[in-house]
Amino acid sequence: MKMINETAIVTGSTSGIGKKIAELFLKEGCKVAICSRNETNVNRTVTEFKNQFGDSVIGMPCDVSDPVAVKNFIDKTIEAFGSVRILVANAGVNLTYGPFQYLPLDQVNSDAHKIIGTNLIGVLDSISAVLPQMIKQKYGRIISLSGGGADRPMENMTIYSASKGGVVAFSRCLAKELDKTENDIKINIFQPGMIFTNLYNAKLIEAWKDKELYDAEMDLLKKYAMTDVEKSSMAVIPYALPTCKDNGKDFRGFPLAKMIRGFMKVSKEMKRINST
Ligand SMILES: NC(=O)c1ccc[n+]([C@@H]2O[C@H](COP(=O)([O-])OP(=O)(O)OC[C@H]3O[C@@H](n4cnc5c(N)ncnc54)[C@H](OP(=O)(O)O)[C@@H]3O)[C@@H](O)[C@H]2O)c1
Repeated sequence: MKMINETAIVTGSTSGIGKKIAELFLKEGCKVAICSRNETNVNRTVTEFKNQFGDSVIGMPCDVSDPVAVKNFIDKTIEAFGSVRILVANAGVNLTYGPFQYLPLDQVNSDAHKIIGTNLIGVLDSISAVLPQMIKQKYGRIISLSGGGADRPMENMTIYSASKGGVVAFSRCLAKELDKTENDIKINIFQPGMIFTNLYNAKLIEAWKDKELYDAEMDLLKKYAMTDVEKSSMAVIPYALPTCKDNGKDFRGFPLAKMIRGFMKVSKEMKRINST
């Protein structure tokens, strides 16, 4: 067990990638605090983890877009564990899928507040709330979640991509600042790849695309381009350990070449389907 004596917060950890990272940390002997917006989801996940890992897990509802809730969650975790040595700023949402040009202004505005409020401001606030404790203990490992469109152009998730681009820029800048201090605090950026989770329930923009074609494309993506959640999440562990010397590094949970080959296959198949 690599993570005995470690204490971690994983935000947005009642499903998908965050839940898997929390589970992997618990398996390695770490104490983990989980959260999400929904109390029922939190209670269900805490019970599930307690059944497997005993009392090493705590959890409470926390919407990361609410700074008061974030501070409360982090303070309660420090109270329970005595420290927070690791933060995985994972909570994220995407609300609509399709070209920006089909989104009316009021929807752009509403989506932008929710997506950027969770994916970017939620990350900034979580890190801000945890830093005083990390500075006090002169130690911390922070991992922020990047996503599609953050470092190369991608269609159909423009607002989401903007939020993730912000996370990447913020994390790289913070890493530079942390480098200048005496403390052993690092922040690195995790790009998990495409993983079929609830994130893909984003509402398809109806004015844009036929639902059947979209479903056909999703099936092909699942077959050729998606990554396994456990394999991908394993990549986080080395960046959560004291042995991690990287700071400001982007790391992946999937082989890029395999994903590019997968996208090429999907695009070829979709051309064929569209022409029939
Ligand atoms: N799946 C992918 O292919 C992929 C690729 C690249 C990056 N990512 C990133 O990976 C992270 C996890 O995504 P996922 O795919 O695992 O999605 P997911 O299955 O939808 O899980 C998201 C988790 O975050 C929680 N959550 C959502 N909004 C929240 C908020 N405001 N405050 C607190 N918790 C919140 C959700 O629970 P509640 O609904 O109960 O709040 C859920 O537990 C996200 O940052 C996402 O952008 C995903």
